[in-house]
Amino acid sequence: MSQYLKNQQKVETLANANVIANVVAEYMDDRTAVSYLVEQTNPKASARIIVTDETATVIYDSASNNNIFGKVLIKQEIMSALKGTDVVNAYKEKDVGTVIQGAVSVISASETVGVVYVSEVASSIDEFIANVRWILIVISLVVCLLIGVLSSVMSDVIIGPIERFTRIIRGMEGDTPDKHVPVMGKDEVAELGVAFNALIDKLEQMEEKRRLFVSNASHELKTPLSSIKLLSDSVLSMNELDEESVREFMEDINGEIDRLTKIIDRLLSLTKLDVGDDKLDLKVTDLNEMADRIVKSLLPVSEDKNVTLNNATNKEALAMVDREKFWQVIYNITDNAIKYTPQGGTVTVYVFNEGDFCRIEIVDTGIGIPEDDVDKIFDRFYRVDKARARESGGTGLGLSIANDVVMMHEGKILVDSTEGVGTKFIIIVPKKLQLDN
Ligand SMILES: Nc1ncnc2c1ncn2[C@@H]1O[C@H](COP(=O)(O)OP(=O)(O)OP(=O)(O)O)[C@@H](O)[C@H]1O
Ligand SMILES: [Mg+2]
Repeated sequence: MSQYLKNQQKVETLANANVIANVVAEYMDDRTAVSYLVEQTNPKASARIIVTDETATVIYDSASNNNIFGKVLIKQEIMSALKGTDVVNAYKEKDVGTVIQGAVSVISASETVGVVYVSEVASSIDEFIANVRWILIVISLVVCLLIGVLSSVMSDVIIGPIERFTRIIRGMEGDTPDKHVPVMGKDEVAELGVAFNALIDKLEQMEEKRRLFVSNASHELKTPLSSIKLLSDSVLSMNELDEESVREFMEDINGEIDRLTKIIDRLLSLTKLDVGDDKLDLKVTDLNEMADRIVKSLLPVSEDKNVTLNNATNKEALAMVDREKFWQVIYNITDNAIKYTPQGGTVTVYVFNEGDFCRIEIVDTGIGIPEDDVDKIFDRFYRVDKARARESGGTGLGLSIANDVVMMHEGKILVDSTEGVGTKFIIIVPKKLQLDN
């Protein structure tokens, strides 16, 4: 800005000097005329005007107390104007400020007959710049202050709730009963709060499930152990025991050990499925053939119970499944069907091809499942009739395992049951044959 103003001033100074040079050009011999003419051009009071002749001798000086009149003024600007090059420049003079000076040649009949030198203190430029500087400083301070206030307000608005949120979450590390954060308003922080609360709900559900599982598992493991302890205590406390009684006790103990082993085996397969590091070993498998083999292996059990068991399908049904795991699905459900079907009943297995899916139905004419229990039978350790299940050696884990495996295959198990009439378990599993390459 200062540069611009100086340039403006330079142009003006040069123009003034030129005007004077033109006016006095023809009267350079007459000093009185020169002074008169210069004063007639009405120069600014702040400007000092010096006119020299062609030998740089001062013939007019506007400064009243001048004592250079009649002297030769050796000034670079005057010399250069005498040589025909007009000059204008600005410089800073101590205690005075910016000074603009210009020198132009006075030409008469194509001859340089003198020089008009104008020097002017541009105090208005300095004042203006000083003012502008002050205004800018004040504006900058005000803007800084505003930014400071604004950012502190903004941080209160934005960071404040997040900090509050963090404090609440930190506070939860202890044993606070309610782990939810209070949700206020509808902003992003509130959304975060809602998501956080949903996560807490889920974690609480998982924790509750885990607690239940551990308590159930301990209970289920404790029961056969207690029986074993009781039986062995009895044997030890009896002085005289005939061989047959000992055998009877040992058989009971053996039975309890078998039960323990079964529970532990099932728990192990469940935890393996839970951890998820047990990857599926998918292979193209004929599920109808698998069902055939399962039926064959369960025939002795069904015959023992006088239940008719058969696979009613003779058509191939190919799907990509983990053979070992999927075997447990059909096996556990068919085993249940036999177990929960009274004498004289029937258990029939069907295997269908259905587009991209295979559908396996295991239909029995057994005791059925009460409506209220249908949703729970896939829960770990859940048995509809605990006393009866215990008699039949049930752990309540068979369906959990089957369900987990089917879920891993991205399939599902449906149940259709009527108490006293029978139950139909439907397993639906995607074929995924395109994976086989
Ligand atoms: N076909 C069925 N008919 C009637 N009830 C059934 C049938 N299948 C399962 N249930 C009920 O569902 C419960 C859970 O079955 P699940 O297979 O998980 O356990 P379980 O058979 O008792 O024990 P496990 O399979 O470990 O020997 C059973 O206890 C039984 O009450
Ligand atoms: Mg079972």
